[in-house]
Amino acid sequence: MSETDGPGRSAGGPVVALVPAAGRGVRLGEDKPKAFVAVGGTPMVRLAVDGLIDSGAVDEIIVMVPAELVESAGALLPLSCSVRVVVGGAERTDSVRAGIAAAPDAGYFLVHDAARALAPPDLIARVSAELHAGYPAVVPALPVVDTVKTVNPDGVVTGTPDRAALRAIQTPQGFAADLLRAAYASDVPATDDAGLVERLGVAVRTILGDPLAFKITNPLDLRLADAVLAHTETPAVGTR
Ligand code: CTP
Ligand code: MG
Repeated sequence: MSETDGPGRSAGGPVVALVPAAGRGVRLGEDKPKAFVAVGGTPMVRLAVDGLIDSGAVDEIIVMVPAELVESAGALLPLSCSVRVVVGGAERTDSVRAGIAAAPDAGYFLVHDAARALAPPDLIARVSAELHAGYPAVVPALPVVDTVKTVNPDGVVTGTPDRAALRAIQTPQGFAADLLRAAYASDVPATDDAGLVERLGVAVRTILGDPLAFKITNPLDLRLADAVLAHTETPAVGTR
């Protein structure tokens, strides 16, 4: 499945969600790692896991957290589905690599940042459906609203890419498990998982993303997420 955009044969096997939650949240600037900061009273990592469970599309969830928070993460995650906690790494790619290693029987991976805590279950289910339709790499994408420019090291503009061809990419990102394993076999750094898959020459399919899957990065994002939850009916935590 390299030079084509069409679906191949579906790989089959369990769908394992990998939830990178081992970052420090430096830009958010709270007193604890970001995934453990509450939105609407619930830690982000719990919201992200609940979204995965509610999608009905996931067989197992593996959450990667900072070493010192393995026990507390276990206590705040639901018991009603197969959820495991493992130690993450220094960089996001290290955390994802730890998750991959913990799931040797996976047929598909959905890699989903805890920081995208409000990603709707429907988005997660749509990514999974495309994997089962035979697409080996699937990412949610939204049109870019800002004009994007490239700059040189001095901050002087060097170009203005055509906005119509640009997309902002979200998570969950879905992959046939063997493909993600192959992508992570090398040590090349990348800002997202699909970037590593692209290097293998495999076509990455985009589907329409969801504004609610925005990444909580800066303090303003946290206020936005709190406001969204204050106006959304969600099942009470602990009911899953
Ligand atoms: N992440 C991870 N392991 C790391 C770094 C990041 O699992 N070593 C996770 C984060 O917990 C987050 C996701 O990857 O859910 C996206 O990363 P980002 O938004 O950059 O979160 P942080 O690294 O925590 O934030 P910052 O870069 O501001 O410190
Ligand atoms: Mg980071």
